[in-house]
Amino acid sequence: MSSLPSELNARVAAVAGIDPELRAATKPQFGHFQSNVALRLAKSEGRPPREVAQRIVDELEVGDLCEPPEIAGPGFINFRLRNEVLAGAAEAVLTDPQVGIVATDDPQRVVIDYSAPNVAKQMHVGHLRTTIIGDCFNRVLTATGDTVIPQNHIGDWGTQFGMLIEQILDEGIEAAELDLAAADALYKRAAAHFKTDPEFATRARARVAIFQGGDEQSLAIWRQLLEISKQGFNDAYARMNVLLTDKDLAGESTYNDDLAAVCDELEANGVAVIDNGALCVFVDGFDAPLIVRKSDGGYGYATTDLAAIRRRVRDLHADRIIYVTDARQSGHFRQVFAAARKAGWLPDTVRAEHIGYGMVLGEDGKPLKSRDGSAAKLVDLLEAAEQNAAPEIALAAIKYADLSSGLQKDYVFDPERMTRTQGDTGPYLQYAHSRCCSILREAAARGYQVGPITVLDEPAEQQLALNLSRFGEVVAELAENLQPHKLCSYLFELASGYSVFYENCPVLKSEDPVRSSRLGLVQATRNVLARGLDLLGIIAPERM
Ligand code: ARG
Repeated sequence: MSSLPSELNARVAAVAGIDPELRAATKPQFGHFQSNVALRLAKSEGRPPREVAQRIVDELEVGDLCEPPEIAGPGFINFRLRNEVLAGAAEAVLTDPQVGIVATDDPQRVVIDYSAPNVAKQMHVGHLRTTIIGDCFNRVLTATGDTVIPQNHIGDWGTQFGMLIEQILDEGIEAAELDLAAADALYKRAAAHFKTDPEFATRARARVAIFQGGDEQSLAIWRQLLEISKQGFNDAYARMNVLLTDKDLAGESTYNDDLAAVCDELEANGVAVIDNGALCVFVDGFDAPLIVRKSDGGYGYATTDLAAIRRRVRDLHADRIIYVTDARQSGHFRQVFAAARKAGWLPDTVRAEHIGYGMVLGEDGKPLKSRDGSAAKLVDLLEAAEQNAAPEIALAAIKYADLSSGLQKDYVFDPERMTRTQGDTGPYLQYAHSRCCSILREAAARGYQVGPITVLDEPAEQQLALNLSRFGEVVAELAENLQPHKLCSYLFELASGYSVFYENCPVLKSEDPVRSSRLGLVQATRNVLARGLDLLGIIAPERM
């Protein structure tokens, strides 16, 4: 669905021949939108801008949307939407259970690979980002009618289990009795032990082969580590209000049985060749090849990712695959996608996208670290925010801060700023929502009617209606471009416009039909804020 501004823009473009780049008017007396298209065309057409503007205005057919367009100053064209058109658009949002979100006409099966923490390690600040961002994509694509298949590619296999198992046996501890924090501490002891004790390192390496060879005692310990880790991840997911459940788990270990076949197929197709004993895929534009089987016969991260693509297309029938990880993995994914395309596992009809995000920085501008120098732990960040606000608000603060600047950008984790109820923050949007709820409660108590939206005489009402009508388009764009910051700035604009409306347009104190129309605007604003926040994974409280 295109919003009123997009529709108008398209019609002017059809007459002008170029994008008129309609902008919000700088003052209410200029109408709602302005375009400088005539000034830009004047040069190439060799005619005065006002003349060009006149020609465009004469040819335009927008009477169903606008008052007659006006030419101003050196040749600007001003557009004022008709009042009843704006009211109709806002009313449509008010009465639509989907608040303007339109189902896509091309529903797809979308795999979203996100979160993916590692067994026996606590989730860190990087996992915070992938979990928040991936969950937002999950919500948005589901809302616009795709079938989302989340895949939690947890790190539950690999050589680290050699040293973990040896350390557990050395210490004589019961893995089942650990929690994730204790397992994380064990991991650090094992890693230190591995570095300082060559005899231990030798045993740990040997243990990898014993374990991967199917040794029952090793597998039992591995299963216990997996179990307590999943418990810890699920606790974090519940605390973060994310959608992931156990049925979305598809860890590295689940591809184990496919890895040999993956290598065989690659070799048989000539996509991979042996180089210095290792099986490699050479991809144009990369200095180093993608190693799919090391010279010792071991498989790595890339092999598992190739197996995952193969399964996602072949068995899960994905039309689109979205990976959400640290931006530093972008080279890895470009190479993996190219190799998978060469191998025929990723046909051109299937879109594969890596959404790489930037780092979370401390107030010193350096990557956030925990006291022991490792990446800051997710739970510590939640706790830091909760020092400043109640859990629901602290979480909103974190999620909004994470989603509201471009994903590729680094951002500073500043709990004090993020939790403010003023400015461009999650709590500000929650607060705007709760203010709408409180007026609606009062209106209900007095038996006032809410809607229809019919009277929009004040510029603040018109602006609010215009903003409301854009929601569906903003969500559709997000489903396509995966840029949550645009939804954030839309919601911030909506909430700010609501504030202006609230200050300028008495609601409960006015008389019908103005009162019911304004209450309709309040209700529609509430609905859009609630739905918009939900798409960001943020809970919208009715009272704050
Ligand atoms: N476990 C990895 C990490 O913590 C992320 C995995 C991302 N997904 C993937 N298919 N490689 O960095």
